[in-house]
Amino acid sequence: MSIVIETQDLTRVYQTYQKPEGFLNSIKSFVNRQHVSKVALDKTTLQIESGQIVGLVGANGAGKTTLLKMLSGLVTPTSGDAKVLGFRPWERKNEFLRQISILLGQKNQLWWDISPADSFALLARIYDLDPTAARQRYLHLADLLQCSHVLQTQLRRLSLGERMKMEIIGALLHEPRVLFLDEPTIGLDIVAQEIIRNFLDEYVKEKGPTVILTSHYMDDIAKLADKLLLISKGHIVYQGTVPDFVAKSNTNLAENEEVDFEEVIRRFLETESRVR
Ligand SMILES: Nc1ncnc2c1ncn2[C@@H]1O[C@H](COP(=O)(O)OP(=O)(O)OP(=O)(O)O)[C@@H](O)[C@H]1O
Ligand SMILES: [Mg+2]
Repeated sequence: MSIVIETQDLTRVYQTYQKPEGFLNSIKSFVNRQHVSKVALDKTTLQIESGQIVGLVGANGAGKTTLLKMLSGLVTPTSGDAKVLGFRPWERKNEFLRQISILLGQKNQLWWDISPADSFALLARIYDLDPTAARQRYLHLADLLQCSHVLQTQLRRLSLGERMKMEIIGALLHEPRVLFLDEPTIGLDIVAQEIIRNFLDEYVKEKGPTVILTSHYMDDIAKLADKLLLISKGHIVYQGTVPDFVAKSNTNLAENEEVDFEEVIRRFLETESRVR
């Protein structure tokens, strides 16, 4: 198996400033700003093999989106290095961008004022895909995701679930070899979550991309991920399979007590929130 994603001490520090309370203090702070550094990701070293589906799990603010944004070239690291398919992502080489995709569940990436079908036609031109093949592909994907009936509707008129399905199709149109899925089921009803989960499961089995997936729904991770990456305050604190993680957590419990994956994660997040 070849290594498709690797990072070495990858770090991202964000600079923000604290705005003091009160109008006058606020004006003063234009001249005398209180800068604050926030380490979003701290010296992360990891390797991901070709064809693996990695579930990235951690509390709000743990650094998941920051990691995915760096690996897809949207954010430049403060220090450290990363290679994805042999490219440094933030150099944003065309050859790299053609082979990857990032879906940000909390953000719209398709064009707001046109229909998904028109967005896909535009994406096909941007990625230099054969228009007929691209059309067949999005029709097929829309059929699998049960959203064909709204392909011609303006994106902004679609429901959250319909929009997310369209975003997924947009992310897959150019058949990326590496796929970053940041909360692809966020805010969706349980049926829509299941449709997307089953779709992604079939898709990765058929096409074999390398995937990093984040989700706060542990069903997504349990169903899709070969490997779990647990992240806490910018640090990876566990790398391994879900069953190994559950078994390891269970060895620390009292006799007769046994917890499932969701419960292990819940306890982990509870401990996190106490020390946050
Ligand atoms: N552009 C930014 N400027 C300043 N701070 C940022 C910026 N983006 C992220 N951060 C901070 O970096 C930390 C990590 O954020 P990140 O979005 O990576 O978390 P996350 O694990 O994706 O959380 P969530 O589960 O809520 O999506 C947070 O403390 C956040 O406030
Ligand atoms: Mg996030």
